[in-house]
This record gives sequence, structure tokens and C-alpha cells, in this order.
Amino acid sequence: MNICFVTSECVPYVKTGGLADVAGALPPALCRASPDVHVKVFLPLYARIPVFDHGFVHADDLGELSARLGDEDIPYHVWYGHLPDSEVEIYLIDCPRFFHRGMLYTDHFDEARRFILLQKAAIEVMQRYAFSPDIVHANDWQTALLPAMLRHAYAWDDRFARTRSVLTIHNLAYQGLTNPHYAYEAGLPVEHALSGGNYHHDGAFSCLRAGLVEADQITTVSPTYASEIQQPHLGCGLDGVLSARRSALTGILNGVDTAHWNPGTDVHLAANYDATDLHGKTICRNALLSEFSLSAPPDVPILAVVSRLADQKGFDLLVPDLEQVLRTRDFRLIVLGSGTPWLEGYFRGLSGLFPDKVAAFIGYDEGLSHRIEAGADAFLMPSRYEPCGLNQMYSMLYGTLPVVHHTGGLADTVTDLHEYPAQGTGFSFHDARPDVMTATLHRAIDTFSQQDIWRAAMQRGMQKDFSWDRAAAAYLDVYRRALDGR
Ligand code: ADP
Ligand code: GLC
Repeated sequence: MNICFVTSECVPYVKTGGLADVAGALPPALCRASPDVHVKVFLPLYARIPVFDHGFVHADDLGELSARLGDEDIPYHVWYGHLPDSEVEIYLIDCPRFFHRGMLYTDHFDEARRFILLQKAAIEVMQRYAFSPDIVHANDWQTALLPAMLRHAYAWDDRFARTRSVLTIHNLAYQGLTNPHYAYEAGLPVEHALSGGNYHHDGAFSCLRAGLVEADQITTVSPTYASEIQQPHLGCGLDGVLSARRSALTGILNGVDTAHWNPGTDVHLAANYDATDLHGKTICRNALLSEFSLSAPPDVPILAVVSRLADQKGFDLLVPDLEQVLRTRDFRLIVLGSGTPWLEGYFRGLSGLFPDKVAAFIGYDEGLSHRIEAGADAFLMPSRYEPCGLNQMYSMLYGTLPVVHHTGGLADTVTDLHEYPAQGTGFSFHDARPDVMTATLHRAIDTFSQQDIWRAAMQRGMQKDFSWDRAAAAYLDVYRRALDGR
């Protein structure tokens, strides 16, 4: 089975969030699942990707290519390589005018156009290489026009006559709302992008909606989120379309790439450890405290956050009571994140107010995220919604108990210790309200003093199987469903 996987980020080259982890892990897992699976990944070449360090070579055989966007030919080049330790081929689309912008994602007027170029280039490079994909797998709005492009813009090419498309929703809230003119640039029927049309949503041309109506199969990254997005509360206005397509919609929980996230082998840690010997975790805890110039006796828990600081992540639930909890309870809070200025300011301010208890690193730091997962005792993830979430899984595998809102992938992965004492792996609350969040925080801090219970929960979490192999098998089933009847 030939698969073309198109994504706007991918580990280890470029990452802003979980999509990058998925794009770096799922394609190799698909190849492992079956020897007749071949995957080509397409990704923009952002300025921050050091091509030579990663062993990419310029595709001299292709030379300079160009893609027609409306009335303009946009030149681009292609770089070629393999995902580390795998046979997955990866193609970088090199168009400095579109992809050298400081940030991966912008609010520039031509944001959608940048990714239309990526999608056209992916298709046209496949044409050049005479590669006929069975499946084109798109991810999020940035690549959600691929199903429509195959059906309309490239319908003339027999190479794609038997190709079927799959769109994975990693986050329904980002929809790529843009000018209907770009539908024309993508080679799509413009009338669909206008009011009343299939691709129209919220007064604009919605790249994501186009994908939802045109993809042969749709997946999202957890079973609970798959059902939540069919309801108005989390449907972002697209719940109607999604429930109409429910027979083609599957929730597949993301996995964890244990080549990167395994406390037994993690190269970022001061010491390695596993469920049978937690000595290394104590070393990591002490190293983390000293990295942040904090101190805490063993009976004082370290709570941690590693997150994009976006409204989605629910930190506003902490704000009303956290100062009071910090005044009355003994714990430490270590925060790594960046995003919305008010949340950056909030955590910075909190560390100024409580210098002995709170430390915040505002920024992005891969190694530090691993050291925090290993060194902390509990991990806060009160997301208002969470399609899957990876950090709660990393936390469990690192023996760090997650404290989560019972939604999306958090509901599918974390079992509340008080509701299910024999199976619990963390703390989970149902109502997204500050008082409930605060009560759960108290519950976690109280439980930390009951070391037997805490340790048993750690052990259960560390032994969980979040392997990508399970997810890859589920994706192959979805691909087969897409191919049925062709
Ligand atoms: P989302 O994709 O919504 O941000 P996920 O939990 O799926 O949420 O994935 C987030 C990923 O990004 C995790 O791998 C997490 O460790 C990483 N991450 C988030 N913020 C930072 C940061 N400031 N520094 C390092 N890694 C981060
Ligand atoms: C999105 C979601 C997150 C998910 C990730 C990878 O960024 O917010 O929940 O884990 O995609 O699928």
C-alpha cells in the first residue's frame, strides 16, 4: 500500500505541538505494521530546519519546479531524506517566500495560500516521480484541501483515479478560514466556498470543512473526541457535518514514541529508571529542583506544566484559586510553556510572587520538557478540550501522575484514583469549573502524603501500553475502509 502523508510539522525537524510527534511516529509505525506499506511524508522546509544536519539532499533530478496558484507560478525546490532509523521517505518543499517567515504559522493574509502550495507541491512531486498513492493522508486544516484537490483539481490525472483520502483532525478549532478566492487558486469549484456552499463556514472558505466533506475517511485522535465533536458543545460549528459523516469518522488514540519518550533510555535525563527501580526518578527530581533553584523535601510534591499556553489548555480554571492554594499548601509548581501573552504573564507573575514555590520558563525547550516529565510528581493538564493530548501519556510512563479534565483523549487515557482506587493512574475531574479544579488539586496534594497509594498509581501508569503499533493497525483498517469498493 502506497501512502502519501502530508503534514505541516514533524519530529525531529520542526515542532510546535503534538501533530509533530504524530507525524514523526505514525509513518514508521505503519511501515513496521506491514512490509508492503510504503510512506512518503511531505513537509514544508521552514527556515529553522537545518537540512544538512538531518542528512537531506537536494532533489537535483527535479530541479526548480513551480506550482500555479491562480495567475501566478510559485517556484520551489525539493529536498529529500528519510525519517531517522526508518525507511519512510520525506520530502521537504522549499519555498522561502512562503516558508521562511520566522514562525511556522502566521496571521498573514496569505496563510492558506502557503499551505495550498504545500499541498499542490506534494501532488505534483508524486506526479514527477510517477508515484500512485493508494491513500493520501491529510492532517488538520493546513492539508485538508488535499481530498478536494484530488477530486477536482487533479481529476484529470489517471494516476490518482484509484487514490482515496483520509483526513485526521488533530484540532477542530483551527479551521483555516480564508478568502474564497483561494478555492480558485487551489483549483476547486469556487461556488462551494461561497455562502451556502459545502466548503463555506463562518462567513468564509473553510479549508477544514472542505476536507470534512470530501475525504473518503475522517479520523480524529481519540474515541471520546470523535463523539464530542459531533455535538454542539465541542463541534466548533461543524458538528452537523461531522454527525452527517459519522459512519466515515473514527477516533484512534495517538501513541507514544518510546524511542523518544522512555524513562529507561531517555538521553535528556540525569538518570534513567523504570517501574521496577525508581531510584533514578529521585535523582531526576533533585536535578529538576536544582535546575530551577528550588528546594523541596521528599514529602512535598512537585506539580508541573508543559504546554502551549493556549485557551484550549484550561489554565484559566487555575487562576481564581491558585494563589490561595499556594499560600495554604506546601507544593512546588514548575511551568514550561509559551503562547498567549496573558498566560505567559500570569505564570511569570506567579513565580515572582512565590519565588520559593513557583518557577516558570517561558519558551520552548525539548530537553527541559523531558526533564520536567521525569522530575515532577504530578502533571497539570486541565484542558477545556483535548483531542488526544500526549503529555498525560508521557507523564504516566514517567511515573508522574496526571491531573486532568475528563475530556477527549484525557478521558480515554487517565483513570481517576478515587473513582477507581484499584486501577487509578491519576486525577480526573468532570466539571470544567475553577472550584472543581481546585478541589482536585487539593485531592492530588493530599494523596501525595499516602505514599503507598501514590506509588501503586505510578506503577500502573508506567506499565501502560500506549504503543504506536496499536494505532498503526487501526489506521491501516481505516485505509482499507477507504479503499473498499474502489
Ligand atoms: P498540543 O498538540 O495541543 O500542544 P499535545 O499534548 O498533543 O498538545 O502535544 C504537545 C507536545 O508539545 C508535547 O510533546 C509537549 O511535550 C510539547 N510541548 C508543548 N509545549 C512545549 C514547550 N514549551 N517546550 C517543549 N515542549 C513542549
Ligand atoms: C493537537 C491536539 C492534541 C493532540 C495533537 C496530536 O495539537 O491539541 O490534543 O494530541 O494534536 O494529535
